[in-house]
Amino acid sequence: MPLAVKLLEPTVELADALVPYLAAPREAAGRCWVLANMVAGLDGSAAIGGRVGALSTGADAEMFRAMRTLADVVLVGAQTVRSEGYGPVRLPPDRQQERLARGRKSVPPLAIVSASLRLDPTSPAFTDAAVRTMVLTCAAAPQEELERLRDVAEVIVAGDERVELLRALSVMAERGHRIVLCEGGPTLLGELVAADLLDELCLTIAPLMGGDPLPVAIAPPGAPVRSFHLEHVLAEEDTLFLRYTRGAT
Ligand SMILES: NC(=O)c1ccc[n+]([C@@H]2O[C@H](COP(=O)([O-])OP(=O)(O)OC[C@H]3O[C@@H](n4cnc5c(N)ncnc54)[C@H](OP(=O)(O)O)[C@@H]3O)[C@@H](O)[C@H]2O)c1
Repeated sequence: MPLAVKLLEPTVELADALVPYLAAPREAAGRCWVLANMVAGLDGSAAIGGRVGALSTGADAEMFRAMRTLADVVLVGAQTVRSEGYGPVRLPPDRQQERLARGRKSVPPLAIVSASLRLDPTSPAFTDAAVRTMVLTCAAAPQEELERLRDVAEVIVAGDERVELLRALSVMAERGHRIVLCEGGPTLLGELVAADLLDELCLTIAPLMGGDPLPVAIAPPGAPVRSFHLEHVLAEEDTLFLRYTRGAT
């Protein structure tokens, strides 16, 4: 049987690249919808010199900021916070207004996943946050660090030795959060995929090769393979934006 291959040709030019993302349905029964936004080079690399900056094209950086409009919470692994010097989420005034009109907070809080709690409570991620940053941790975390972070963040203990991601997401859903945007890194994303908690992946393909030998998601040992459906493809010059949703398990 011949392959039903389609040649994609440029069609509609979007005035606002976020429109197809805003229109997408997002409902996960009993927990938050988890959407991840990542960028990779043509070789699949997720960083250059240990950081994302050089990998991200101008269009990707703009899309990265715009995607945050969709989120009730921005979830990130502690190593990304450390290596990228993560600060709180900021949105331009028009995006804040859009959110307020949809009954959301003007900006989503950060939620940092960490067992070690090697996080600086005097850093902007905590001190400059318009909405209190959350720290998702586990009972085995160092208690002194945990108490220090309680002064500047909402600390949620979800799990014993590690953060149980399903439990953490349930706590967030109980607090009324519907959409969690995971911005990486690869370790956290790999755990979400392994636990079958990733509902949607927005993946930018940047036109570069030669980055770090770091994939977009690191599967924990023994994790099953998961499949996804392609929902749309957007292009801006040489940058591709792919949107996938969870496939059959
Ligand atoms: N291409 C992209 O889109 C993209 C996006 C983000 C980051 N990055 C790059 O990715 C690299 C960092 O990623 P990474 O994979 O090393 O780290 P990561 O996923 O950002 O963070 C891993 C850390 O998160 C915490 N963590 C994750 N799952 C946990 C669990 N279940 N329970 C408790 N803690 C948990 C642990 O923190 P503790 O060590 O504190 O316990 C762990 O060391 C950087 O080079 C960054 O530039 C790329």
